[in-house]
Amino acid sequence: MKKIAVIGAGTMGNGIAHVFAQFEFQVNLIDTSATALEKALANIAKNLDRQINKGILSNEDKISILQKVTTFTSIELGVQEVDLIVEAATENSEIKKSIFQQMDQFAKPDCILASNTSSISITALANATQRPSKVIGMHFMNPVPIMKLVEIINGAATDNETTNNIVALTKAIQKIPCVVKDAPGFIANRILMPMINEAVYAFSAGISDAETIDTIMKLGMAHPMGPLQLADYIGLDVCKNILTIMHEGFNDAKYAPCPLLVEMVNAGKLGIKSGEGFYKY
Ligand SMILES: NC(=O)c1ccc[n+]([C@@H]2O[C@H](COP(=O)([O-])OP(=O)(O)OC[C@H]3O[C@@H](n4cnc5c(N)ncnc54)[C@H](O)[C@@H]3O)[C@@H](O)[C@H]2O)c1
Repeated sequence: MKKIAVIGAGTMGNGIAHVFAQFEFQVNLIDTSATALEKALANIAKNLDRQINKGILSNEDKISILQKVTTFTSIELGVQEVDLIVEAATENSEIKKSIFQQMDQFAKPDCILASNTSSISITALANATQRPSKVIGMHFMNPVPIMKLVEIINGAATDNETTNNIVALTKAIQKIPCVVKDAPGFIANRILMPMINEAVYAFSAGISDAETIDTIMKLGMAHPMGPLQLADYIGLDVCKNILTIMHEGFNDAKYAPCPLLVEMVNAGKLGIKSGEGFYKY
């Protein structure tokens, strides 16, 4: 694989484009919003500067990495000639299905179509295409340039060649692949989100304050960040949406988002991105 397209230039998309360009791939970064593309390039440059300050990269590396990223506002133009597309657009089934239909229509027949979705069924996305054997989940963690894990999700029809290619590619960008089956929340969020939800329940019941809950989980369980701080970092709306998808997908009330989480999202308290969540920023 030499050429990769990334669809969606938000938090995850700019990080995914950054990492592929750093490992010598040509990257077409696609977003319907020109502003998002501008911000993404600025973010990549800022994060490359961080790597320069840490002595990981040189100024020349920065220039050559930025030159490898080309931006597009059209999926049709951006996906032609690429070997892999990683879709990292807004977490919404209808948006993603429509993007998968366009990817299928405009990409080469042998191009692999991957999604960075946190919770939407890979099998359902594959069913929106004529090539379900070439559709797979490639779930990067945030921040992408730093986090080592890529959770790789096989849909019901994903073939071995596709999985093997994506596992090899993940290793080539110096990340660690973990392959799982398709199920709501996969593994990472199926385990993480109920923990965050339980922390919100404990907070909402007044068992302790946010700092103490986070300190208990940090010092007691050796977690680098407490669950409420992590929820603020991920975005409370994102946490709520993933819990709702698991609640509906498993038809099990244990995954229903805590009422306080729903209330905070409705009040616009989304965590770091809105300036307030369980903490103020
Ligand atoms: N934020 C996280 O911590 C995190 C972690 C892992 C996975 N994810 C997943 O990654 C994906 C992206 O999340 P994010 O946090 O980067 O979202 P984001 O809101 O920061 O970015 C989404 C981008 O998609 C663009 N977009 C929307 N519809 C589009 C379309 N039809 N065509 C092209 N671009 C379109 C938007 O303009 C926006 O720039 C989601 O599926 C999310 O579940 C997020």
